[in-house]
Amino acid sequence: MTRIAMLGSGFIGRFYADSIQGYRSKDKIVSIYSRKEETAKKFAADYSVAHVTTNMEEAIAHPDVDVVCISLPNHLHEQAVLLCCQHKKAVMTTKPLGRNAAEALRMMEAVEKAGIFNGYLEDLVYTPKFIKAHESVKNGALGRILWTKSRETHPGPHSDWFWDLEQAGGGCILDLGCHCVEIGRSYIGKDIKPVEVMCWADTQVKPIEAEDHAIGLIKYETGAISQFEVSWTFRGGLDLRDEVMGTEGTIWINNFLRTGFEMFTTGKGTDYVAEKAESNTGWLFPVGDELNELGYNHMFADMFNAMESGKAPKETFYDGYVVNAILDSAYRSAKSKLWEPVQLPVWRGKEGLCKDNHLIDYDNEHYFVKEELTHYGTKKVILKHKQSGKFVEKIIQ
Ligand SMILES: NC(=O)c1ccc[n+]([C@@H]2O[C@H](COP(=O)([O-])OP(=O)(O)OC[C@H]3O[C@@H](n4cnc5c(N)ncnc54)[C@H](O)[C@@H]3O)[C@@H](O)[C@H]2O)c1
Repeated sequence: MTRIAMLGSGFIGRFYADSIQGYRSKDKIVSIYSRKEETAKKFAADYSVAHVTTNMEEAIAHPDVDVVCISLPNHLHEQAVLLCCQHKKAVMTTKPLGRNAAEALRMMEAVEKAGIFNGYLEDLVYTPKFIKAHESVKNGALGRILWTKSRETHPGPHSDWFWDLEQAGGGCILDLGCHCVEIGRSYIGKDIKPVEVMCWADTQVKPIEAEDHAIGLIKYETGAISQFEVSWTFRGGLDLRDEVMGTEGTIWINNFLRTGFEMFTTGKGTDYVAEKAESNTGWLFPVGDELNELGYNHMFADMFNAMESGKAPKETFYDGYVVNAILDSAYRSAKSKLWEPVQLPVWRGKEGLCKDNHLIDYDNEHYFVKEELTHYGTKKVILKHKQSGKFVEKIIQ
């Protein structure tokens, strides 16, 4: 059994608790910290938590606690992580790791110096669809990965602090882009270095200092490109879609809207439909099992299995730090309107790769361009002559 202190009893704290305790699993939340006593007590009653406190350090230091799960607003992540280091408690932190790369790097260095288990709770690389798609990519089903696209858009977050630039550290680029970046990075290869970022961002709708809409491109050392699309101004629910394109194939994933479950109601009932659903009448796109579809179950299974076996989980603070570094470059690019280099003072992947070779030999004299079976029954190949550079067609059937 793993015994957990949950810091934060809000939106994500409850999703995490539902996942950790919801399926009669062996793990147990034994302490809950929340800012307000009444919400901490309500959480304790809902999840049968023995120890309730409004003092963060008391929850972390509690002798029954094996691991601390940080579900607090972004500006409190570092303070909570440093307390875990001080008390030598294993720690898992929700996304984004930091409000920026400097904060994330300090957290990573602190947990590594303290020698404590550290997990980065990036649920969207643990969804059943992602896990299956990623296996196919790793097995080569898509060939060489050229481009990925991840989109997360919704009508805006659910708590006041998200909208305050100081507490949140950014707008939708940081809040949603962190998911998209890690999805793309995982498909391209987490050991492949991200080199530069181009990003457009604007505040189109909300009365805030931060951006509420952005699109970015991350270039990797192999030449692969990863695109993110994020918005706090999208109407119609939570749009979570991913695409991967390789030399041998393509994957399209729709995670939340239009997943094959569509329902119409005149509005007689008042059911909860799904996260950020804007309506519960008319045609709806309910989600069968959000905890599973959003990856929480597989994520905590990986975290606790890794802890038990003394290994690192799939996502660590190092990953959170790389994501923050990429997003910092996106913010710089949105201002400068230029490609901005990704600054990674610590990098543990491959170094000095060149852009992947795109020339495929057909025979000694030609490069292969394309093969096609036409509607009139002819099969042909298009080739490029290596010496002259001329393109030629050859009928092969
Ligand atoms: N899919 C995901 O992984 C996901 C989804 C939503 C939120 N998050 C992350 O989880 C963290 C918490 O977000 P949330 O949506 O649960 O927020 P929330 O506002 O719903 O809950 C925040 C919790 O922190 C506590 N808290 C302590 N000090 C606080 C302070 N000074 N100001 C505000 N709250 C304080 C509150 O009592 C509350 O229990 C954020 O880092 C957010 O980015 C992750």
